[in-house]
Parts: sequence; C-alpha cells; structure tokens
Amino acid sequence: MASRYPASWLDELRSRSDIVQIVSGYVALTKKGRNYWGLCPFHGEKTASFSVDGEHQLYYCFGCKAGGDVIHFIMDMERLSFPEAVEQLADRAHMTLPEMEKDEDYERRRTQRERLLNANREAARFYHETLFTPAGEAALAYLRRRGLSDGVIRKFGLGASPDSWSSLSDRLLEKGWKLDELVLAGLTVKKKNEDGRERYFDMFRNRAMFPIINTHGNVIAFGGRTLEKREPKYLNTSDTPVFNKRQGVYAANLLRQQRHLERVILVEGYMDVVSLTQYGVEGVCATLGTALTNEQARLLHRFAPQVYLGYDGDSAGQHAILRGLEILEQEGVPARVLDFPDGLDPDEFIRRDGIEGFRKLPAISPAAYRLRRLKEQLDLSGQDGKLSYARAASGIIAAVDPVEREVHLKDLSLATGFTRETLLEQMNLSAARQPGGKAPAAQPARLHAVPAEPGSDDLKAQELLLSLFASGQIPKEMIDEKDFEDDELKSLYRELLAGASPASLPDLAPDDATRSRFTRVLLSPSAGDTDQMITMANDCLNRIRKTRLEKRFEELSRMLDTAPDDTLPALLKEAQEISDKLKKLK
Ligand code: UTP
Ligand code: MN
Repeated sequence: MASRYPASWLDELRSRSDIVQIVSGYVALTKKGRNYWGLCPFHGEKTASFSVDGEHQLYYCFGCKAGGDVIHFIMDMERLSFPEAVEQLADRAHMTLPEMEKDEDYERRRTQRERLLNANREAARFYHETLFTPAGEAALAYLRRRGLSDGVIRKFGLGASPDSWSSLSDRLLEKGWKLDELVLAGLTVKKKNEDGRERYFDMFRNRAMFPIINTHGNVIAFGGRTLEKREPKYLNTSDTPVFNKRQGVYAANLLRQQRHLERVILVEGYMDVVSLTQYGVEGVCATLGTALTNEQARLLHRFAPQVYLGYDGDSAGQHAILRGLEILEQEGVPARVLDFPDGLDPDEFIRRDGIEGFRKLPAISPAAYRLRRLKEQLDLSGQDGKLSYARAASGIIAAVDPVEREVHLKDLSLATGFTRETLLEQMNLSAARQPGGKAPAAQPARLHAVPAEPGSDDLKAQELLLSLFASGQIPKEMIDEKDFEDDELKSLYRELLAGASPASLPDLAPDDATRSRFTRVLLSPSAGDTDQMITMANDCLNRIRKTRLEKRFEELSRMLDTAPDDTLPALLKEAQEISDKLKKLK
C-alpha cells in the first residue's frame, strides 16, 4: 500500500511501536532462538507456528502465511484501515500525526477507490431498503420461498434491485457520483442508441441482490439472482478497480469475525452460504462465480487450518472437487471433501436433512474421494478394469500416511482380488518413479498432481541472500543487482540498498499473497554473527552465479547446433570461458 505518510515518520512509528511488545498484548509469546513464537491469532491452531522477528520487526505465520509489519498486524487484528491503524499506534507511542505528503497520483487513486467503495455501499443500502418496499416485493417473496429468515437476510444484507431501468443510477447521480464512476463500479451500463445519443441503465434489474463484502467490511461487488428463469441465473459484477473475482470469497466479512475456526467450508453458490449459515453452520464461504484459484486457497488458509470442499453433488461439482483438491494441495492446505448425496447442492441438502443430517455427513480425505471417483469411472467386473483400478489406485494410496493407507489397501485388495503384498509392491513402484521417492507417480496424472517444489535451489539462494542483506551486516559491494533474477527480490534489494527498513517493505506489496512472500523473505536469517552471515552470503552467491553460468552454457550449446559458421568462434570462446569459470567455482 502506497502511503500518504512520510517514510521516515513511519519508520519512527515502527521503531517506537516494538512489534514484540505490541503482539504480546494479543498473543502469548515465548522466546525460542532469536524469535518469539505463539499461537497464530489469524487461524485456529494447536501448535505455535506464528513467529515474531524482533530484529527485522516483522511477524509471520508459517501455518497460514499471514505476515507483515506492526501496522499491518494492528490492521488485521483490529480490522482497521491503514490510516486508522497508524493513528492508533501513533496515539500509543505519543507521536503526533505528520503533515500529509502530497502524492497526487496516489491521492487520485485513493479518492477514486473510496468513491467507488462508497457508491457500492450506497447501492447495497438501496437494494436492502428496497427489499422491504413494494418495489422489492417479488424479491422478498422469492427469498422467503427459498426458506430464508429475516434474520439471515439482514446478516448478509440481501436486497432487491427494482424492475426499472435506472432507479439506482438516478439516485446515485443525484447524490453526486459521476456517471463514469458508476460505470467503473459496475453498477451502471452506458450504451449508445442508434441515433448516436448516449443512454444509461442499471446493471442489476429485477434481481435478488447478494452484496459481496471483503474482510475489511467494504462492499466490493454484487451477485444478482434472477427471480424468473432468465439468463444468466446469477449476474456478477465484472472486475473493477475495487474488485477482483479471483482474489476474494463470498462472506469473507463473516469468516473474519469467526475466530478459531477449525475448518472453512467452501461451497459453490451464494445461496448455499446463506442457507447453511441460517442453519447454524459456521465458516462457510463461496468463490465468486469462478473455480477456486490459488489466491483464494491461500486466503482460506488464513481463516482456518483446513478447508472442506462442499461442492454440488452433480457432475460439474464433482469435477470441480478434483480440481479444487489440486489447487489446495499446490498451496499446502489440508483439505477434505463433503460429498453431498443424490446430486443435491448444500442448500437443497440441508433443507431436506436439516443440521443433524449435515453434521452426520462424513468429511472424507482427498485420497478416499479420488479412489471413489476412480472406481465409478471404471468397470470393475472384468480383469482389465480391475487391473487399471489397482494400478491407478496404488498411485493414489502411495501418497497418504501409513494409517490411512492401511484402510485403503484392504478395500483395494477386496475390490481387485490382488493381495496386499502385490499392491504394496505396485505402490513402491509408483513411489520410486518419483525423484525424492516420497511423492507418488501421478497415475493417472490429472487425478492428483504432486505439488510443485516451492522454488528451485537457485531461487532459495536468492531469497536467503536477500534476507542476509536485509540484516545490514553484508558489505554492499559483495552483491550486485544482477544476482537477483527474481523481479520481486530485485525490487526489494533496490529498496534496501536505498536505505529502506525491512519492516517498511511488506506494505509495498500489491496483494496479500505478495505481502506474505515479502515478509517471509525479509525475516532475519538464522545465522549467528557477521562472519557467519558473510560466509552464507558467499555460498548463496556461488550457487546463484554458478546457475547463471550453467544456464548460459546450455544456451550456448543449443546455439552452436544451428549458429551460422562466422559466429562459431565467438560462441566457442564464450563457452570455453564459462567452462573455466565453472571449474573454478567447483
Ligand atoms: P448454481 O447454478 O449451482 O446455483 O451456481 P445455486 O447456488 O444452486 O443457485 P440457486 O440455488 O439456484 O439460487 C453456483 C454459483 O455459480 C455462480 C454463482 O456464484 C453461483 O452462486 N454462477 C452460476 C454464476 O456466476 N452465474 C450463473 O449464471 C450461474
Ligand atoms: Mn442451489
């Protein structure tokens, strides 16, 4: 977040608001090694993975990846905006707020964002009020027919867009918003008539309205459900300057209020969220009209240690579960599947079987779910089917822990007629095919992609090098900007070189995921004294430079195959030089 406060003043604020002390006010911390550890306040956990780095003045949770400086900690803890958190800390540190720096570009974007958010808030209020007037009669009747109580309608701020062309737009124009702002917010559509004259109308008309509210309580978008059988069934706000459908989730505002959730349940539809919540299920949310993204998986992990996928019981839902499991696995988020019977969606199911039925639904493991799906796809009556099943299933089972494996082995042996020993052998084969031995061969591949290594050794070396540099103990001349091939690391390096403090950098990140990464790589290194740090930095540099040379060498070898004759001598010369340098490095 670009800020309106002078950087030096913010640094002063940070240094007077010691992060260890501030966090201690919320979390019981114990010192282990150089850092302080405690139970993460942002997701439910039983063993401490939340760390506070007193040296670089950062906090980072290795479980849910929440991280940042002391200002961000207060924002998240107290659900405050950046300026509000700054004010609170300044008050505590007896510092007076500075004269604001004028950054016109920032001011303009900030004002625009604020105006769009306010327009959305006003729209949400308008839709909600309309619901209880004659213009909202049809929508209210619809929501009630779907079993929603007035309480839950209020809780989610549901509303009605009137069956008229421009009642919302007219109201907002009257209140001072410009037409272009309303278009930008996705509330109004502007069209040219045949005669060339411009006209405008409301984006949402005659629909039941679901406001989408983010963790900070801002209305960022809407989903509108048709009351008749019109297409699309749900109309959603497209991406706007304040809304990115790939990043948020529906009901994020409520998730934030439910501390210490043991799991969040991700469902497909807005209606499923509202309905399950009315029946008393906690921690339910939905994606925003798209399939689960990696960003959303990381966001969900910040609310709870586990994610349950509660997708529709139809075939599209079943397919989405397999895909969702892959995404969650890529992000290292433990997952389970709620398999709704009879092709029902969660809303239909809970209305049929009630909260008791819902509580009895087993949350099955990803492997169990994949095996079930596999079994449904194959014909196990013949030998061929049994063979394919045994092979593919062995690949799935090889990935799970020994206890769960035992259960599946028994079932698999029963279903296919192969002995436990044969199946074990097949499993070992699957496991052995994978470098490193632990992860299973993906067989069939699409059913369970193995999570990618979170970065090559080269990237890890760049990250460690940055962390060492951030400690201020590495001579500047040792490192060159070119040593950071990763753009994000390079930009952090530049800031540090220009004198920025590590704690000031996470706030430069454009989104939560990047802030998390910035924080992680800026944590102080675990090395001891300056000498040790310099040694480590040298190791990193060797590795980085070696990789760079190897890459160039490979490139040259490829070029040699096709290069025109007159360029050969130069290429060969360079290759020879690199080869000499590499020998020296080894
Ligand atoms: P579903 O079609 O499964 O709807 O879409 P549902 O939740 O069961 O809705 P009801 O019960 O008929 O009201 C699930 C989700 O997919 C997105 C919406 O986010 C919806 O909540 N969707 C669906 C759209 O964005 N557009 C559509 O036209 C349909
Ligand atoms: Mn439904």
